[in-house]
Amino acid sequence: MKTPSPHRHVLVTGGAGFIGSHLVEALLAGGASVTVVDDLSTGVRANLDVAVHAHPDRVRLVESTVSEWARGAPGFDAAYHLAASVGVRLVMDDPARAAERNVGETMALLGWASRTRSPVLFASSSEVYGKGVSSPFREDADLLFGPPTSPRWSYGLSKAVDEQMAIAAGARDGFPVVVARFFNTVGPRQRGRYGMVLPRFVAAACTGRPLEVHGSGRQVRCFGDVRDVVRALPTMLSTPDCHGKVFNLGSDRPISIEDLARFVVSTLGSRSEVVRVPYSDAFGPGFEDLEVRIPDIARARRAIGFDPGITLEQTIRDIAAHLARTPEAIA
Ligand SMILES: NC(=O)c1ccc[n+]([C@@H]2O[C@H](COP(=O)([O-])OP(=O)(O)OC[C@H]3O[C@@H](n4cnc5c(N)ncnc54)[C@H](O)[C@@H]3O)[C@@H](O)[C@H]2O)c1
Repeated sequence: MKTPSPHRHVLVTGGAGFIGSHLVEALLAGGASVTVVDDLSTGVRANLDVAVHAHPDRVRLVESTVSEWARGAPGFDAAYHLAASVGVRLVMDDPARAAERNVGETMALLGWASRTRSPVLFASSSEVYGKGVSSPFREDADLLFGPPTSPRWSYGLSKAVDEQMAIAAGARDGFPVVVARFFNTVGPRQRGRYGMVLPRFVAAACTGRPLEVHGSGRQVRCFGDVRDVVRALPTMLSTPDCHGKVFNLGSDRPISIEDLARFVVSTLGSRSEVVRVPYSDAFGPGFEDLEVRIPDIARARRAIGFDPGITLEQTIRDIAAHLARTPEAIA
């Protein structure tokens, strides 16, 4: 991949979360000073322990919502907006709150960026493709959602609205914007309690509990290591050719969920069984999921030489090692 970030004073919203905390470490390693704004709604202070320990003088946590912080805050050389309500279970439990926060907090961040002309990288999601069937998904594909009466689409719809607001505000008010659509991103510190599949599987395999596969298990996904994903972000935001554009980011190596469960068991030498649980038991009646979700990552490869190299086996081992060090994270 090309050039490290030239940005010196950097903001990361949601920096105490899973992806945010890895991004903070990558930015610090590149020489930046980092301010994290996080309300610790799903993130935890401990996620920043490695960063604070390595660079105590260059990282600062402001415990606040983005909207409270944004009033009157100064500009930064770069801002990475990752704060959001994330996770199928969290969103299904309270879809109104998730949509309000994902749209309202992003509006506040964009208002701040317009005022200070700070460059913004917006963390979007493969969920914006909704129930589209044109996998592998390309960034210029049409987006296809179910009806607004179904909470299932609330998260993806809110991220699609955010993308449009970010690109339009950047073009109107003259600040660089990059939209990164993360596909399933995995690694140490991700939590299973909000419905994320790989940390649930690894935690179950490590503790001898059954691995619960929702639905048929034939759903196909690609799991990209968080450390590969975050390395790409500063490069994108500092590359003018990337501004005003949308990029898929993640792995493009597909695996079914049933095979993923078996691969976790064999990689960790676990005795756990793999069992099936109907979607209706996991998420209530009428839950719809995509059969196949694979990104086309050619655009990111061309723009910045994006080349995710960490294997799924390595990621699984690293998640297991992290859980062994922090058993309280098993939930
Ligand atoms: N993990 C994935 O596979 C994945 C996939 C697609 C997109 N994303 C996106 O990446 C970003 C980070 O996701 P993650 O997996 O690290 O989730 P996470 O829940 O670990 O991180 C989100 C962080 O934002 C904070 N936060 C939430 N609302 C806030 C607010 N209003 N003000 C301040 N802080 C707030 C939370 O406390 C948390 O630390 C999100 O924008 C998410 O939509 C993640």
